Amino acid sequence: AQRIAIVGAMPEEIKLLTDTLKQKKIIKKDGLVYYKGKIHTQKVVILKSGIGKVNAAYSTTKLISRFKVSKIIFTGVAGGVHPESYPGDMVVATSVFHHDYAKHLADQYIVRATTNLEGKLNPLYFKSDSLLLLLAKSVISDISFEKINEHKPQVFFGKIATGDVFLSNTEKAKWLYREFDAFATEMEGAALGQIAFQNHIPFLVIRSCSDNANNQAHVDFNEFKKPAADNAIRLVMGILDKM
Ligand code: ADE
Repeated sequence: AQRIAIVGAMPEEIKLLTDTLKQKKIIKKDGLVYYKGKIHTQKVVILKSGIGKVNAAYSTTKLISRFKVSKIIFTGVAGGVHPESYPGDMVVATSVFHHDYAKHLADQYIVRATTNLEGKLNPLYFKSDSLLLLLAKSVISDISFEKINEHKPQVFFGKIATGDVFLSNTEKAKWLYREFDAFATEMEGAALGQIAFQNHIPFLVIRSCSDNANNQAHVDFNEFKKPAADNAIRLVMGILDKM
């Protein structure tokens, strides 16, 4: 079986994974730290990308040029923007898109004008791998997620909006849901998704909401990021177990 790559932006978003890793080998290259080894029986390479789209694009590019990876899973926290989502709820991305690229509202064509390596227009929405989505669906009921703020996490499947901003603005959060049907917002997913798409590598983005991207997002983020990050990793490990 080929190696699966797992990427998180912050140390908290990969810690439980690197703690669980067997036959661990640490490789320092490209200004990055790669953790190679096994989770369950699955060969993996784990990587901390750093925060934001540039870091995500850089590290994903380096990752796939250095390792033969068959799939990439991103794991981490997000701000929930679905009206029924609470901190702790999880969003498995059906697709990811850039919410801060060019003029989304004015002209779709401008947004789509990022071209890929073959000179074709990139799609507005980068789709998650259908097999990984199915796997995610099938393992959810077997996983015990940690309650956050007395709330038992629900798992949503929906679009995730990526931008180079920590969103703490109730109106803008509502706009992301209204305008794009986004369920959550974060700062790496679409950058990783775009690089994966351009290199024909299937990917999945899994996020657990640390906050609601609203006016109190900073406070919630600090309080809930750790348990939220761990819940996302539990889902990743459930998927790896079934592969
Ligand atoms: N990651 C976690 N919460 C976030 C937010 N509110 N905005 C962007 N990225 C986030």
